[in-house]
Amino acid sequence: MDRKIRAAIIGTGGISGVHMAGYKALPNVEIAAVCDIDVPKAKAYAEKHGVGCDHVYESYDEMLKKEDIDCVSVCTWNAAHAPATIAALNAGKHVICEKPMALNQVQAQEMLDAAKKNDRILMIGFVRRYGNDCRVVKDFIDSGAVGDIYYAKATYLRRHGCPGGWFGDKRYSGGGPLIDLGVHVIDLSRYLMGNPTPVSAFGATFHKLGNRPHLKSTTKEWVATAQDPRFGFSVEDLATAMVRFDNGAVLSVECSFDLNIKKGVGDVELFGTKAGIKLSPDVEITTEMNDYMVDIAPYGETKLSFEGLFESEMAHFVQCVESDLNGARIECRSPGEDGVTIMKILDAIYESAATGHEALIR
Ligand SMILES: NC(=O)c1ccc[n+]([C@@H]2O[C@H](COP(=O)([O-])OP(=O)(O)OC[C@H]3O[C@@H](n4cnc5c(N)ncnc54)[C@H](O)[C@@H]3O)[C@@H](O)[C@H]2O)c1
Repeated sequence: MDRKIRAAIIGTGGISGVHMAGYKALPNVEIAAVCDIDVPKAKAYAEKHGVGCDHVYESYDEMLKKEDIDCVSVCTWNAAHAPATIAALNAGKHVICEKPMALNQVQAQEMLDAAKKNDRILMIGFVRRYGNDCRVVKDFIDSGAVGDIYYAKATYLRRHGCPGGWFGDKRYSGGGPLIDLGVHVIDLSRYLMGNPTPVSAFGATFHKLGNRPHLKSTTKEWVATAQDPRFGFSVEDLATAMVRFDNGAVLSVECSFDLNIKKGVGDVELFGTKAGIKLSPDVEITTEMNDYMVDIAPYGETKLSFEGLFESEMAHFVQCVESDLNGARIECRSPGEDGVTIMKILDAIYESAATGHEALIR
């Protein structure tokens, strides 16, 4: 291509920083415009990143109308993912939307429909798919070393760690640790299991500890951020579930913002007919060798590294966009279709938690 790819960012908060850094690391991308309903914040962000003040917008509709853009990062709070993404797709832009894809599967399906109708790329920010640990584990699984995976565990437990603000307000977030943290490990587990189709979920959510703003911090582990009077706290503090897939495999899920557990845990464990394999803290394989049960660790660094993690995700998105502009689109590694499936799982867990019965996924 003889020109740079022109990208824009909607939502200039925390995560937009890694989208910006990812774009800036690539010589074939320029940031055309940024947008946030908080205009002073967007202006300061634009200045920091060298985006001209004429290219700062309060409204993404106006930005999409005025700016010559190839692709858009949607980095807003969850409630704005669907409307911003659909507007960008309808304006003919390719989109990377942060996780969770939307507030629910209905919105997620509308986003996917808009991508299909406009023949645009819709990638979801399932960043764990781009991790060094995921790469090693997927390699073992793809080679057949783990055998058939029939059980998996997706765990993301914080002792005390709602990010605060809108994350705790269901109207903006859609839910608590399940939709915010669980989404990462549920997607990673399903991806490593070979993306089986979910058929049902049995889940439970709890509102027992709340946000515990009175707790004093004595640790570097996640702690709640300052309260924001604009937002309430209306999300679960713990969610747990069993998800069943059409191949008979089952995924157990546990995630919390607040739980009386000694230490937070983040892990994905997969159990196959030939071996078990876990990702954290380092990749480890449990299997049999010479009629002994053995635990094996690959030599070298396999702990999830954040160095280059988001950059790999953003580089893949830009590669997808470039391939489209060059007329030969490559396959997206975290497509909107998988985002919809994950939203179906999350909806079913919340539905089951509300009814007390298993929820079917169609
Ligand atoms: N992939 C990851 O590991 C990861 C990590 C953190 C956050 N996230 C996701 O990124 C998203 C943003 O999280 P954050 O921590 O950056 O939140 P944040 O609160 O720091 O930033 C969100 C920004 O969106 C803006 N916004 C809201 N509605 C808007 C609209 N209609 N138009 C323009 N701007 C709008 C807000 O004003 C705010 O500045 C969330 O969906 C979150 O789940 C992903």
